[in-house]
Amino acid sequence: MKAIVNKEYGSPEVLHIEEVVKPIPKDNEILIQVHATSVNFGDLMARNFKAVSPQKFNMPWLLWLPSKLSFGLRKPRIIILGNELAGEIEAVGKDVNRFKKGDQVFGYPGLSFGAYAEYVCMPETGAVALKPSNLTYEEAVTLPYGAIMATSLLGRANIQRGQKVLINGASGGIGSMAVQLAKYYGAEVTGVCGTPRLGFVKSLGADKVIDYTREDFALNGETYDLIFDILGRCSFSKIKRSLKPNGIYLLASFKMKALLDMWWTSLAGSKQKVMCAFANETPESLTFVKKLVEEGKVKAIVDKSFPLEQAAEAHKYVEQGRKQGNVVITVTHLAEI
Ligand SMILES: NC(=O)c1ccc[n+]([C@@H]2O[C@H](COP(=O)([O-])OP(=O)(O)OC[C@H]3O[C@@H](n4cnc5c(N)ncnc54)[C@H](OP(=O)(O)O)[C@@H]3O)[C@@H](O)[C@H]2O)c1
Repeated sequence: MKAIVNKEYGSPEVLHIEEVVKPIPKDNEILIQVHATSVNFGDLMARNFKAVSPQKFNMPWLLWLPSKLSFGLRKPRIIILGNELAGEIEAVGKDVNRFKKGDQVFGYPGLSFGAYAEYVCMPETGAVALKPSNLTYEEAVTLPYGAIMATSLLGRANIQRGQKVLINGASGGIGSMAVQLAKYYGAEVTGVCGTPRLGFVKSLGADKVIDYTREDFALNGETYDLIFDILGRCSFSKIKRSLKPNGIYLLASFKMKALLDMWWTSLAGSKQKVMCAFANETPESLTFVKKLVEEGKVKAIVDKSFPLEQAAEAHKYVEQGRKQGNVVITVTHLAEI
């Protein structure tokens, strides 16, 4: 089968097309014929983890070494990227009950990656579900990463109707879904992003938008019930004054200092809380978002599509920082030509 492989770390040029062995599903796995995959934060990081120093790593330095070992010290261990997919099930292992051949699915292989290929296997218990019936594969593939991260992380903060919520990093993969989900939950949402994407975040339903290049939201006197910080670039000591007395500072990316703040606010019984959390990669987040999409409450936004052969171009486009929404890679199979 065709796949985009990267046998060395580096710029998008390391991505090239090759013939590789088609995977065979184990007893508990499904074999998916991939029709669409995407470019997201995880793909960019895994493609060049060599360049990610402990300082640049958006998580505690204690996790950097295991991540380095898992991604590969000098050369990538994951040579086929792609951690979102939409496609059709071509075969199922003998113990599979949740799916059957011909099912149209969308999913998040996560750190297993492998979706920049014509076929990929996933365990049936993995983060995979039937795709929204009203979306094409190209549209559906924009959802899994944001759906898993935003549903799971916002769920921990127990967001309530009428709350004031600020999403710092509202235009990215996690933030763009978080804005839509927070609106669905009935919150008043402020999205923070860069100048070119202010209109995009507004179009997702944000009530207000703040351009981080022009205004520091922590200094404008507004207070929020929940501040969801995707890149974790703020500090609790600074954010405190922007939180209501029972407010929560929720971080998707966090360093040791934020973990200490979380433990301290918890131990000291502080009313303002810090929450650093990892997302649960469960199929339930996908089925939840599928329903919202089918009811017209959440949108899938494709900024641009590239064929599999142009995966390097797709990565370059994302790294240029021009995207508004998701960048999709489509996979054409011989029978479709
Ligand atoms: N906790 C977990 O389980 C988990 C799982 C996966 C990923 N993560 C973390 O999530 C992060 C990636 O999130 P993502 O995929 O949404 O990233 P992304 O698509 O690259 O989006 C990044 C967002 O941050 C904004 N941004 C950039 N610089 C900013 C600044 N100085 N101030 C405020 N906002 C700024 C961007 O705005 P513009 O583009 O408009 O400039 C964009 O909205 C990584 O740090 C990763 O470690 C956490």
